Amino acid sequence: MTHLDWGLAGKTVIVTGATGAIGRAVAAGFAEAGATVAIVDLDQARCDMTALSLGLEHRGYGADLRRFSDLPGLLARIEADLGLATVLVNIAGVILRTADLFSVTEKEWDAQHDINLKALFFLTQAFAKRLAETGTPGSVINYSSQGALSGGFGGSVVYNATKGAITTMTRGMARSWAPLNIRVNAVAPGLVDTPMLKTPGQSDADREAMIQQIPMQRLGLPEDHVGATVFLASDMARYMAGAMINVSGGFLMY
Ligand SMILES: NC(=O)c1ccc[n+]([C@@H]2O[C@H](COP(=O)([O-])OP(=O)(O)OC[C@H]3O[C@@H](n4cnc5c(N)ncnc54)[C@H](O)[C@@H]3O)[C@@H](O)[C@H]2O)c1
Repeated sequence: MTHLDWGLAGKTVIVTGATGAIGRAVAAGFAEAGATVAIVDLDQARCDMTALSLGLEHRGYGADLRRFSDLPGLLARIEADLGLATVLVNIAGVILRTADLFSVTEKEWDAQHDINLKALFFLTQAFAKRLAETGTPGSVINYSSQGALSGGFGGSVVYNATKGAITTMTRGMARSWAPLNIRVNAVAPGLVDTPMLKTPGQSDADREAMIQQIPMQRLGLPEDHVGATVFLASDMARYMAGAMINVSGGFLMY
């Protein structure tokens, strides 16, 4: 390889949450790098449309990732259609904001943990198991958040706790599977201009106040996350394991 060889051409890459704002941008980045992309998200029709918009070689897989026992079957379908995937990008996630921390219900706790953390764990476990069985090197990129470090505030604390756990789990998975040549790393977005950032009743002044906290003086865009994600999956990051790349315009610095 040369120093500028991404090594992704012809690889099969799975992106979850791939019809969402960041997921779609990231999936397009992998397609541009020459990979074949499995577009995984809740709605089959939206997955098909997204896949088609990237090119005929990509495929959509409508799946609710909270059906944990279906996850090995989902991976088997992708392998049968597109070949063994060697890159998994875990982007699917939800935030359920509540008025404050006092009002969080058990249902809201479970809903966020089920997709953000439990689905991520069991999908990645099944993915890594298949790589281990076949002796194939691979890469996992988990979507965390700046909130993993800050803790978030009020009604977003539970969501941010899932992100903290993702960061911790990224390190544990990386340490466990690096000897198998399966690299696990994370990307941590900051304040990204997507529907997920919107809170009920948010005013223009609230939005401006958020921007003022960002040294680069603008909210993140979905496309801002493509470089870090494709890089982590690529041969250019071949000696990286357990890292978390900060993509926040300087919102937090670490
Ligand atoms: N937007 C931000 O400001 C921000 C900040 C930090 C981290 N993040 C993280 O980045 C990731 C993407 O965020 P986004 O802003 O693009 O959000 P988004 O809501 O546009 O995308 C999330 C996607 O996940 C999918 N999804 C949810 N539950 C699912 C399930 N059970 N099975 C399959 N798919 C499911 C949704 O359908 C959606 O397409 C998330 O993990 C989020 O936590 C976002």
